[in-house]
Amino acid sequence: MRRLRKRSLQPLVRETTLSVHDLIMPLFFDENASEPVSIASMPGQFRYPLREAGTVARDIRDAGLGAVILFGIPKAKDPEASGAYAADGIIQAAVRAMKSAVPDLVVITDVCACEYTDHGHCGIVGDTAEGPDLLNDPSLDLIARIAVSHAKSGADIVAPSCMLDGMVGAIRRALDDAGFCDLPIMSYSSKFASALYGPFREAADSGFSFGDRSTYQISPSNRREAILESDLDRSEGADILMVKPASFYLDIIAAVRELGLPVAAYQVSGEYSMIAAAADRGWLSRRETVLESLVCIKRAGADLIITYFARDVAGWLHEER
Ligand code: PBG
Ligand code: ZN
Repeated sequence: MRRLRKRSLQPLVRETTLSVHDLIMPLFFDENASEPVSIASMPGQFRYPLREAGTVARDIRDAGLGAVILFGIPKAKDPEASGAYAADGIIQAAVRAMKSAVPDLVVITDVCACEYTDHGHCGIVGDTAEGPDLLNDPSLDLIARIAVSHAKSGADIVAPSCMLDGMVGAIRRALDDAGFCDLPIMSYSSKFASALYGPFREAADSGFSFGDRSTYQISPSNRREAILESDLDRSEGADILMVKPASFYLDIIAAVRELGLPVAAYQVSGEYSMIAAAADRGWLSRRETVLESLVCIKRAGADLIITYFARDVAGWLHEER
């Protein structure tokens, strides 16, 4: 086997390569911020004020990246997440500003309610036989309304992350009715109830006031259920499927790839923070660990990777050329 491992021959037999075109950079816009605020649990990441949106869009483009996914932190929260679909909401304004600064930047929006609800859950909450919880069907109109408001602001792709049953179908119908037949849906289709979202909940101020998300997100133990979730979203009209988190769930990425649609993997906040913390202590090489984590996510079957390291990686890939 060593014949082809000569240094000079390694590039010829490389099976998987990472490209800047695969990467999507997550960004936080905070209506309460007046300057970039660093996120303590995610060193190197920031919550940006709206007025930085144009600058950030140009920085991202200049780094060589082509796509971002946006999360918003509103000034006010309420039980109905009304800030999430406001025409002048933080995300709607950020999309307009980024698209006008860099028209060919692909701007994806996370479609969920949890940053906008005072209880922190991903939709409408009410009483169930087991106590207060997220109500599935009563939340579908809200989620569809958020998606349409993002579309009207100029989003290129909408990405529902609430894990409601029927969310993709409801959004597809609402988009079509509003004239956005050509707008793709990237569904967070196989999203696990993971401890690795901890740093994000601090970053996006989206922690919940009671309960947890285990009644709507998938148990880490359940592989067949996860594949079924992605398959259902495909049948409802999803254009891109997603597995989230990424590195602990490579078997799910490989299985979802068999469904035939493009697959995105989300290297989540906890995956970022684990590598960042170990690298800050000198325990791991940041560059080597990040590049290995991402090439392995691709090897498993992901076409696209959402990663907070996207900007670093774009710089490293540029140096390697
Ligand atoms: C909101 C949402 C979450 C993430 C993306 N969208 C958090 C959650 O479901 O609690 C996690 C992203 C990350 O950890 O980087 N629905
Ligand atoms: Zn949510």
